[in-house]
Amino acid sequence: MSMTSFSDWLYATQFSTALRETTWVIPNLQTIHIIAIAVVIGSAIATELRMAGIFATDRPLPDVLHRYLPWMKWALVVLLLTGALLVIAEPGRTLNNTLFWIKMALVAGASLVTLRARRSLVLATAGGSSAITVPEASRGLSWLMLLVWCAIIFCGRFIAYA
Ligand code: HEM
Repeated sequence: MSMTSFSDWLYATQFSTALRETTWVIPNLQTIHIIAIAVVIGSAIATELRMAGIFATDRPLPDVLHRYLPWMKWALVVLLLTGALLVIAEPGRTLNNTLFWIKMALVAGASLVTLRARRSLVLATAGGSSAITVPEASRGLSWLMLLVWCAIIFCGRFIAYA
């Protein structure tokens, strides 16, 4: 089954039709999606700038990661749920759109790096010294990650115009 016929099938389902035709559903999903974006980006800025040695440098790195990573994790879950419902409501806008798939690949990569690599830093220091130094390569990765999060926002916004 091609992506076009899958999205046509999904569009015709009762669930998709109900989501689309209940006027308050899509605006509310979009609003929750945007609030969750603010939480993810806020947490990414705080943690990545700490890793780059620019923000909250007087706070131990594990403290900063402990504080923001759970927010980021739960906001990503909300993004996944609201995003999936938005796809189901209007599959033709997204499933046949290259920008949507670029965005999904970037979201998967950025989430993996943040929640795995960054988290392993926290675990590595748990119970040990909190005065760890961030390797130089990791500082470069922080700037790259901030760029990737910005690219995800651009892709999300441009889906409607591509
Ligand atoms: C985790 C899985 C995600 C899914 C499945 C998803 C899916 C979607 C969908 C279907 C739309 C509506 C596109 C349209 O029809 O115009 C959307 C909009 C958007 N998404 Fe996501 N998204 C996800 C995560 C994210 C993340 C992590 C970010 C950024 C941090 C993000 C940023 C945006 C932005 C900026 C918009 C445009 C909002 C608007 O202008 O109304 N999304 N997303």
